[in-house]
Amino acid sequence: MAKISLKPNNDYCPQTLFLYGTYDEKGNPDFGLFCWFSYIWDKELGVMCCIGGNKLTKENIKRDRIFSANLVTEDLLPVADYLGCVSGSNPDKMKISLDIGKGSVLNVPVLNDSPVIFELEVTDFINKNDGDVMLCKIKNVLQDESLSSDETVVKKLSRIAPVKTTAKTYLGYDGRDLGQWGEPMKSIN
Ligand SMILES: Cc1cc2nc3c(=O)[nH]c(=O)nc-3n(C[C@H](O)[C@H](O)[C@H](O)COP(=O)(O)O)c2cc1C
Repeated sequence: MAKISLKPNNDYCPQTLFLYGTYDEKGNPDFGLFCWFSYIWDKELGVMCCIGGNKLTKENIKRDRIFSANLVTEDLLPVADYLGCVSGSNPDKMKISLDIGKGSVLNVPVLNDSPVIFELEVTDFINKNDGDVMLCKIKNVLQDESLSSDETVVKKLSRIAPVKTTAKTYLGYDGRDLGQWGEPMKSIN
Protein backbone atom coordinates (compact mmCIF):
# COMPACT_ATOMS: atom_id res chain seq x y z
CA MET A 1 0.00 0.00 0.00
CA ALA A 2 1.30 3.50 -0.82
CA LYS A 3 2.70 5.39 2.18
CA ILE A 4 3.42 9.04 2.97
CA SER A 5 6.17 10.26 5.37
CA LEU A 6 5.12 12.54 8.24
CA LYS A 7 6.66 14.39 11.20
CA PRO A 8 6.54 12.50 14.56
CA ASN A 9 2.96 11.77 15.59
CA ASN A 10 0.99 8.84 17.00
CA ASP A 11 -2.37 9.35 15.30
CA TYR A 12 -4.19 6.06 14.64
CA CYS A 13 -2.34 4.43 17.55
CA PRO A 14 -5.04 4.42 20.28
CA GLN A 15 -3.89 4.48 23.89
CA THR A 16 -5.58 3.57 27.16
CA LEU A 17 -6.29 6.45 29.54
CA PHE A 18 -5.41 6.68 33.23
CA LEU A 19 -5.96 9.29 35.91
CA TYR A 20 -2.81 9.67 38.01
CA GLY A 21 -3.50 10.40 41.68
CA THR A 22 -0.97 12.23 43.87
CA TYR A 23 -0.96 14.35 47.02
CA ASP A 24 0.37 17.90 46.84
CA GLU A 25 2.77 19.25 49.47
CA LYS A 26 -0.16 20.16 51.73
CA GLY A 27 -1.59 16.63 51.50
CA ASN A 28 -4.46 17.57 49.17
CA PRO A 29 -5.25 15.06 46.38
CA ASP A 30 -4.68 16.00 42.74
CA PHE A 31 -5.63 14.00 39.66
CA GLY A 32 -4.37 14.50 36.09
CA LEU A 33 -5.21 12.58 32.90
CA PHE A 34 -2.50 10.63 31.07
CA CYS A 35 -2.15 8.29 28.08
CA TRP A 36 1.63 7.89 27.66
CA PHE A 37 1.53 4.75 29.77
CA SER A 38 2.76 1.26 28.99
CA TYR A 39 4.45 -1.77 30.52
CA ILE A 40 7.97 -3.10 31.10
CA TRP A 41 9.43 -6.37 32.26
CA ASP A 42 12.09 -6.58 34.99
CA LYS A 43 11.64 -9.98 36.62
CA GLU A 44 8.00 -8.96 37.01
CA LEU A 45 5.52 -6.68 35.26
CA GLY A 46 6.25 -2.96 35.70
CA VAL A 47 5.01 0.33 34.24
CA MET A 48 6.68 3.03 32.13
CA CYS A 49 5.21 6.43 31.52
CA CYS A 50 6.14 9.94 30.42
CA ILE A 51 5.04 13.34 31.69
CA GLY A 52 5.91 16.31 29.50
CA GLY A 53 6.45 19.90 30.64
CA ASN A 54 5.60 21.17 34.11
CA LYS A 55 2.57 19.68 35.82
CA LEU A 56 1.44 19.40 39.42
CA THR A 57 1.29 15.62 38.98
CA LYS A 58 4.97 15.58 38.00
CA GLU A 59 5.98 17.89 40.86
CA ASN A 60 4.16 15.63 43.34
CA ILE A 61 5.60 12.40 41.92
CA LYS A 62 9.13 13.86 41.91
CA ARG A 63 8.76 14.66 45.61
CA ASP A 64 7.00 11.50 46.85
CA ARG A 65 7.99 8.97 44.14
CA ILE A 66 4.59 7.26 44.40
CA PHE A 67 1.25 7.67 42.61
CA SER A 68 -1.87 5.78 41.57
CA ALA A 69 -2.93 5.13 37.96
CA ASN A 70 -6.72 4.74 37.73
CA LEU A 71 -8.18 3.21 34.57
CA VAL A 72 -10.61 5.63 32.88
CA THR A 73 -14.00 4.18 31.96
CA GLU A 74 -16.86 5.74 30.00
CA ASP A 75 -18.62 6.57 33.28
CA LEU A 76 -15.53 8.49 34.42
CA LEU A 77 -14.92 10.25 31.10
CA PRO A 78 -16.53 13.65 31.84
CA VAL A 79 -14.44 14.14 35.02
CA ALA A 80 -11.37 12.57 33.39
CA ASP A 81 -11.60 15.04 30.50
CA TYR A 82 -11.96 17.90 33.00
CA LEU A 83 -8.95 16.70 35.02
CA GLY A 84 -6.93 16.52 31.79
CA CYS A 85 -7.95 19.96 30.55
CA VAL A 86 -7.62 21.91 33.82
CA SER A 87 -4.14 22.45 35.27
CA GLY A 88 -3.29 21.64 38.88
CA SER A 89 -1.99 25.21 39.14
CA ASN A 90 -5.67 26.28 39.20
CA PRO A 91 -6.50 26.31 42.96
CA ASP A 92 -10.14 25.39 42.19
CA LYS A 93 -9.30 22.34 40.04
CA MET A 94 -10.16 19.71 42.65
CA LYS A 95 -13.42 21.38 43.76
CA ILE A 96 -15.49 18.82 41.88
CA SER A 97 -17.42 15.80 43.09
CA LEU A 98 -15.11 12.76 43.17
CA ASP A 99 -15.21 9.61 45.31
CA ILE A 100 -11.59 9.60 46.51
CA GLY A 101 -10.12 6.79 48.62
CA LYS A 102 -6.63 5.69 49.60
CA GLY A 103 -4.36 2.99 48.19
CA SER A 104 -4.16 -0.29 50.08
CA VAL A 105 -0.36 -0.48 50.07
CA LEU A 106 0.86 3.05 49.26
CA ASN A 107 -0.21 6.44 50.61
CA VAL A 108 -1.76 7.56 47.32
CA PRO A 109 -5.22 8.92 46.51
CA VAL A 110 -7.35 6.58 44.37
CA LEU A 111 -10.67 6.95 42.55
CA ASN A 112 -13.13 4.45 44.01
CA ASP A 113 -15.15 4.48 40.78
CA SER A 114 -12.25 3.16 38.68
CA PRO A 115 -12.37 -0.65 38.30
CA VAL A 116 -8.58 -1.13 37.95
CA ILE A 117 -6.04 0.91 39.90
CA PHE A 118 -2.25 0.53 39.95
CA GLU A 119 -0.37 1.65 43.06
CA LEU A 120 3.02 2.65 41.66
CA GLU A 121 6.46 3.43 43.08
CA VAL A 122 8.94 5.17 40.77
CA THR A 123 12.26 3.32 40.60
CA ASP A 124 13.89 5.39 37.81
CA PHE A 125 13.30 9.03 36.94
CA ILE A 126 14.84 9.78 33.54
CA ASN A 127 15.08 13.54 32.96
CA LYS A 128 14.93 14.55 29.30
CA ASN A 129 14.91 18.11 27.91
CA ASP A 130 11.21 18.83 28.32
CA GLY A 131 9.81 15.60 29.69
CA ASP A 132 10.46 12.94 32.29
CA VAL A 133 10.25 9.21 31.72
CA MET A 134 9.40 7.16 34.78
CA LEU A 135 9.91 3.45 35.31
CA CYS A 136 7.68 2.13 38.08
CA LYS A 137 7.26 -0.92 40.27
CA ILE A 138 3.67 -2.10 40.62
CA LYS A 139 3.25 -2.35 44.39
CA ASN A 140 -0.42 -3.34 44.15
CA VAL A 141 -3.30 -3.69 41.70
CA LEU A 142 -6.67 -2.74 43.18
CA GLN A 143 -9.31 -4.41 41.04
CA ASP A 144 -13.11 -4.56 41.31
CA GLU A 145 -14.18 -7.91 42.76
CA SER A 146 -16.63 -8.31 39.88
CA LEU A 147 -13.69 -8.70 37.47
CA SER A 148 -12.86 -12.04 39.12
CA SER A 149 -16.09 -13.57 37.78
CA ASP A 150 -16.16 -16.38 35.18
CA GLU A 151 -17.39 -14.06 32.42
CA THR A 152 -15.17 -13.82 29.32
CA VAL A 153 -12.58 -11.03 29.16
CA VAL A 154 -14.54 -9.56 26.23
CA LYS A 155 -17.74 -9.36 28.33
CA LYS A 156 -15.90 -7.85 31.29
CA LEU A 157 -14.24 -5.25 29.05
CA SER A 158 -17.52 -4.27 27.46
CA ARG A 159 -19.05 -3.99 30.95
CA ILE A 160 -16.33 -1.72 32.43
CA ALA A 161 -15.84 0.11 29.09
CA PRO A 162 -12.28 1.51 29.26
CA VAL A 163 -11.74 4.65 27.15
CA LYS A 164 -9.03 4.97 24.49
CA THR A 165 -7.69 8.06 22.79
CA THR A 166 -5.90 9.07 19.64
CA ALA A 167 -5.74 12.25 17.55
CA LYS A 168 -7.36 14.31 20.36
CA THR A 169 -10.45 12.08 20.14
CA TYR A 170 -11.91 9.76 22.79
CA LEU A 171 -13.01 6.31 21.65
CA GLY A 172 -15.09 3.65 23.34
CA TYR A 173 -13.68 0.16 23.84
CA ASP A 174 -15.72 -0.83 20.77
CA GLY A 175 -14.47 2.14 18.72
CA ARG A 176 -17.45 4.48 19.23
CA ASP A 177 -16.70 8.23 18.96
CA LEU A 178 -16.89 9.66 22.51
CA GLY A 179 -15.98 13.21 21.49
CA GLN A 180 -12.98 15.46 21.10
CA TRP A 181 -10.71 16.37 24.03
CA GLY A 182 -12.53 19.12 25.97
CA GLU A 183 -16.04 18.00 24.98
CA PRO A 184 -17.10 15.39 27.60
CA MET A 185 -16.32 17.80 30.47
CA LYS A 186 -19.09 20.10 29.24
CA SER A 187 -21.65 17.69 30.75
CA ILE A 188 -20.34 18.39 34.29
CA ASN A 189 -22.41 20.96 36.23
C1 LIG B 1 -6.71 12.90 26.83
C2 LIG B 1 -5.51 13.52 27.49
C3 LIG B 1 -4.35 12.76 27.67
C4 LIG B 1 -3.21 13.32 28.28
N1 LIG B 1 -2.06 12.57 28.40
C5 LIG B 1 -0.93 13.13 28.89
C6 LIG B 1 0.29 12.38 28.98
O1 LIG B 1 0.34 11.17 28.69
N2 LIG B 1 1.41 13.03 29.39
C7 LIG B 1 1.39 14.32 29.77
O2 LIG B 1 2.44 14.87 30.13
N3 LIG B 1 0.22 15.05 29.77
C8 LIG B 1 -0.93 14.49 29.35
N4 LIG B 1 -2.10 15.21 29.31
C9 LIG B 1 -2.15 16.57 29.89
C10 LIG B 1 -2.47 16.57 31.41
O3 LIG B 1 -3.56 15.75 31.76
C11 LIG B 1 -2.82 18.03 31.82
O4 LIG B 1 -1.66 18.82 31.66
C12 LIG B 1 -3.38 18.15 33.23
O5 LIG B 1 -3.84 19.47 33.41
C13 LIG B 1 -2.34 17.82 34.30
O6 LIG B 1 -2.92 18.00 35.55
P1 LIG B 1 -2.06 18.49 36.82
O7 LIG B 1 -1.53 19.87 36.50
O8 LIG B 1 -3.05 18.47 37.94
O9 LIG B 1 -0.95 17.50 36.99
C14 LIG B 1 -3.25 14.66 28.73
C15 LIG B 1 -4.43 15.41 28.58
C16 LIG B 1 -5.55 14.85 27.97
C17 LIG B 1 -6.81 15.67 27.80
